[in-house]
Amino acid sequence: MEVRVAESAGFCFGVERAVSLVEKLLAEGRKPLYTYGPIIHNEQVVGELEERGVHVLHDLTELEEAEPGTVVIRSHGVSRAEQQKMEDLGFEVEDATCPFVKKIHRMAQEAEEQGKTLFIAGDPTHPEVQAIVGWCRQKPYVIEEKEDIPVLDPGIPLKILSQTTFNQNKFKKLVEIIRERYYNADVVNTICLATQKRQQEAAELSTQADAMIVIGSIRSSNTKKLVQICEAYCAKTYFVQTLADLKQQAFHPVRFVGITAGASTPKNIIEEVQNFVRSEF
Ligand code: F3S
Repeated sequence: MEVRVAESAGFCFGVERAVSLVEKLLAEGRKPLYTYGPIIHNEQVVGELEERGVHVLHDLTELEEAEPGTVVIRSHGVSRAEQQKMEDLGFEVEDATCPFVKKIHRMAQEAEEQGKTLFIAGDPTHPEVQAIVGWCRQKPYVIEEKEDIPVLDPGIPLKILSQTTFNQNKFKKLVEIIRERYYNADVVNTICLATQKRQQEAAELSTQADAMIVIGSIRSSNTKKLVQICEAYCAKTYFVQTLADLKQQAFHPVRFVGITAGASTPKNIIEEVQNFVRSEF
């Protein structure tokens, strides 16, 4: 049986950077040390960090009640108000917002200064999107489906940006529809290259493979998109968080297995799954 792992499977640059920052602060002995939200969507990694003294703060209430210390902003970023609150409460802020996400914050602010109405293609419940919205003075329109496109003056100047992990094809389709209704739209595809490559590889691999295994957290937006892509091309797509999940599934050996993983999946989990599939079937 052939087993192929997508080149882009696993930690992306932004996640690697955020986890390394936490590791560095732990090594420096910073205490108390917090992350604002889990540093990555991986329960194992977050659990291990917790055992080593990294506390996860889930919201502003928990932040207000915590003893001031060092707080790490994860790669998704936070809103301007949240960052301000951290500083006002006396926390030392270590910012691991991915530079690609920071760039979107800047572009959103510039668009506002230029008097443009902002459309963000993304999931309104996702922390990255909420943080982008939180850097705007006027609430932008978040568009996840075509039904979310507002009816405004067709000539208004628009700026269209996207969540870094948005589905590439869906973004293209939404932009086409927006352009049919608005003739003054400035579009910047801000889906990050790591995401584009990962989605492209998942599509290519799943068209060839007889079975696909997607490894990642149920809470990870980019992993869920990989599952959707793989399911579109490969009927036998398995979504697992760890090797234990795969062992519980009725996974039948086939001729060719493809493996990919979300941006928060550590290398060791990918290797465990890969070794299991190679050795057991
Ligand atoms: Fe950054 Fe792209 Fe990862 S935006 S956090 S490198 S998916």
